Formats: sequence, structure tokens, C-alpha cells
Amino acid sequence: MQAILPVAGLGTRFLPWTKAVPKELLPLGTQPIIAHLVDECIDAGITDICFVISEGKESIAKYFEEDPRLTDELTRRDKLHHIEDLKRYDSVRFHTVYQKDQLGDGHAILQASDWVEGPVAILFGDDLFIGDAPGVRQLIEAHKHVESEGAIVALENVPKELIHKYGVVEVHSEHEAEPRLKKLKGMVEKPHPDQAPSSLGIVGRYILPKSTFDILPQIGEGHGGEIRIIDALIEQLKSEPVHGYECKGTRLDTGTPEGYRDAVGKWGE
Ligand code: UTP
Repeated sequence: MQAILPVAGLGTRFLPWTKAVPKELLPLGTQPIIAHLVDECIDAGITDICFVISEGKESIAKYFEEDPRLTDELTRRDKLHHIEDLKRYDSVRFHTVYQKDQLGDGHAILQASDWVEGPVAILFGDDLFIGDAPGVRQLIEAHKHVESEGAIVALENVPKELIHKYGVVEVHSEHEAEPRLKKLKGMVEKPHPDQAPSSLGIVGRYILPKSTFDILPQIGEGHGGEIRIIDALIEQLKSEPVHGYECKGTRLDTGTPEGYRDAVGKWGE
């Protein structure tokens, strides 16, 4: 399977840091956040990864590129061990596309549509999973229980006071053998807490069929001038099933300075 990692956002909440350094390169443990996402893909058997970047964020792709001059120099100095663990990226084919204007998560993945061959995993960098299996592997496993090749989104039980920040799903039915897997009836973006159809919010992992990429341009720029994945999925629900999977483990939100600080604390536990 292929994976798209959209990392083109401006990261305004991390300014002024993000004037110079993409937030996805902030450290968590011994490596940058983005490397944890790439590890999550490798763990799930994904070997083709496409970064969606914006101008100035080339350093994200550079982190994963081979650097023969550095390798030669470190060999000469007998210090090759410093980059030895980067060898695991040799099995991955990296690709980069640009998103010129930041017009939403759907617009971001649309930039990679020519590269997409079949069902593709989408991983948003602000969400990381610790404990249990990594998020995207859980989705791939759950997908095997579904007969159709339709979309599947990662879900989390969200407290009522935070539900207005999420896309929230309406559940049609639960899978008999795997109740965490839900067939969806509808989705609402950022509902008022009293109108939320459930407490299950969509978090940053998806598996999308190629057909979602045909729908995205048709929905045009929707709310607030943005092209959103959720709007494409709402449209898709009219003709094919969309599922959600309530992921196991703890999710860390590294997208805000407070969330990042919290994630740094939890990562070391
Ligand atoms: P955010 O909504 O957190 O936006 O995007 P942001 O620009 O990164 O941060 P703020 O809101 O300005 O502080 C969530 C993820 O989606 C990507 C971001 O790079 C981030 O990984 N994204 C978002 C895109 O790639 N393109 C977009 O148009 C929007």
C-alpha cells in the first residue's frame, strides 16, 4: 500500500519557530515527529510514501534522503554508526509533491492524486499513537473485515467539551466480530456538542480508495474556502459504504504547543 503524509501546513500555532523549522521536525524522543510517522508506515508494510509539502519545508524530505557525501565523510572518519539507523529507509520509495496554497486537508492530498495507484493510507502528522499497534496498522487490519474497498477512518471517543473540534460520525452498525469497526451512516464537521451524532471523532488516519480522489475536485472549495476530506466522504457515503475503526492505544496531539509539550512528557513514560 502507498501512504500520503500531508505536511504542507503553515504551522502558525508554533510561530515563530516555524518561520525556520517545520513543526514536523520537532523532536519527540530521539527523532523528529515525522520520522515516527514514517516508522508507523514501515511497521504497517508500506513502502511508498508521498510527502505533500509547501515551499520552505523541503528539509522534511531531505531528512529521509540518502546523502552519499555525508556517508563517505563519516566512513572516512569511522563514524558511520551515527547514521546507521537511517538504513531502514532504504526499503522505502519517497516521493514529494507541493501544495502551493493551503486550502485544506482534502486539497493537500489531491496534490498527490496522479501518484496514487489504489487504496492509499493518509497520515496526518499532528496525531501519533502510542501503546498497542500503530494507528495505520490497526486500520489496515480492520479493512480486512470489510468486504468492499471503501474508505475507513480512524475514530476516537472524544469528551463532550472537545467534540466541537472534530469531524464526528453517525454510526449505522457495529461489525459483529469486531465491534470497534463501525459502518457509518453520516458525518458532521465540528458539531455543536448538543447536536453531535455520537462521541466518536475522526482522528488523523484514513485509508481512502482511489474514487475519493475523483470526488474531491467535484466538491470544490467548500467551507471557509477549504477542500475537506470529510465532505468527500459524506458525498461518497451516498454510493458506497464508509467505515470507522475505534483505534486502541493513546493518541498524542502534537499540533499545538501545549499538546506537543504533553506528548514529550508521555513519550518518555
Ligand atoms: P493543521 O490544521 O494543524 O494546520 O493541519 P497547520 O498549518 O499545520 O497548523 P496551524 O493551524 O497553522 O497551527 C494538520 C495537518 O495537515 C497538514 C498540516 O501540515 C498538518 O500536518 N495540512 C493542513 C496540509 O498539508 N495542508 C493544508 O492545507 C492544511
